[in-house]
Amino acid sequence: MTPHHRVNAFCTAYGLRLPILMAPMAGASPPALAVAVARAGGMGACGALSMDAAQIHAWAEHVRTQTNGAFQINTWIPDPAPVRDRAQEAQLRAFLGQWGPDVPPEAGDAPLADFEAQCAAMLTAGPSVISSIMGLYPAAFVTAMKERGIRWFATVTTVAEARAAEDAGADAVIAQGAEAGGHRGSFDAENAEAGMVGSFALIPAVADAVSLPVIATGGIADGRGVAAALVLGASAVQIGTALLRTPEAAIPASWAEAIGRTAPEETVPTRAFSGRLARAIRTPYTIAAAAQDSPLPAPYPTQRALTGPLRREAQAANDPARMQMWAGQSAALTRPDDAERMVSALWKSAESFLGQG
Ligand SMILES: Cc1cc2nc3c(=O)[nH]c(=O)nc-3n(C[C@H](O)[C@H](O)[C@H](O)COP(=O)(O)O)c2cc1C
Repeated sequence: MTPHHRVNAFCTAYGLRLPILMAPMAGASPPALAVAVARAGGMGACGALSMDAAQIHAWAEHVRTQTNGAFQINTWIPDPAPVRDRAQEAQLRAFLGQWGPDVPPEAGDAPLADFEAQCAAMLTAGPSVISSIMGLYPAAFVTAMKERGIRWFATVTTVAEARAAEDAGADAVIAQGAEAGGHRGSFDAENAEAGMVGSFALIPAVADAVSLPVIATGGIADGRGVAAALVLGASAVQIGTALLRTPEAAIPASWAEAIGRTAPEETVPTRAFSGRLARAIRTPYTIAAAAQDSPLPAPYPTQRALTGPLRREAQAANDPARMQMWAGQSAALTRPDDAERMVSALWKSAESFLGQG
């Protein structure tokens, strides 16, 4: 099949005019961004990880009333409960206190949003797509999605995960290359470093291994990248970091500016913010956290809870030295623009590389 055939089949199946999806980004998926992507002819997305049922419904309602389009809602499959090590946490609290406010002993206990409640809310919000990351939905939830005609996109980071997603009933796989900004979607949180496969190897290998449409994500930030992913076997692409530079994303100014001047080698995979491996812009904080004499990060979500005071203070102060600034390796390819124009321009440029199919 040619890229054009794959793209046409995918766009027809999901009612899109172009094969560009907004990446679901927890904390950075405002409805305005999803609306703009849908208006360009692509698909908007909601990263619902930290949202409760009412917030999920409000997001869906907002996007539905302003577009005719399809949209995706996403959450994370919970990891097994972390093993707590209070002595190590005490060292971490002391370390984090050098970078931000004092971290109280009970900070590590902060609970995550309720997964079952999120799943129920995603179903009743009625998106065209629900997506997963960090694992696969339980069989009963997959059945419930299918009964409502909701399609399931499963994020995968290896060929083995792609096969598992197909076996579990996914309708498409999102192949996340190691270039991607934000969290790595490895099913096995502890061994994420071992599965850092780049998009150039992952996309064709996944496309060969499964008979589902492949959505490529990770390091795609201009027309060359979109065209390359489609040639390598993808049916569509999903864009994260590039969309963070749009005004609709409304992220802190110093983070948006840093994205524009970060070379590929200036992003780092780090567990220093959440305990799960994620790609961020290298900063004085990520460097210090990785130093040999610094305490090892706690597992997710304990580390995420412990770093909460620091992350909130750094964001309020718009302080790039300490802020959690997720970004993919292609960050600097992005030109700031409004989201609808950016998505249209990405596809126009990709088409010029793909030629007439
Ligand atoms: C700020 C940010 C938040 C993210 N949050 C999520 C999330 O909640 N769920 C998810 O599936 N992926 C999440 N991701 C990963 C993206 O969906 C996607 O895989 C990644 O952005 C693609 O790489 P790129 O940033 O190079 O475009 C996030 C990425 C970023 C940059």
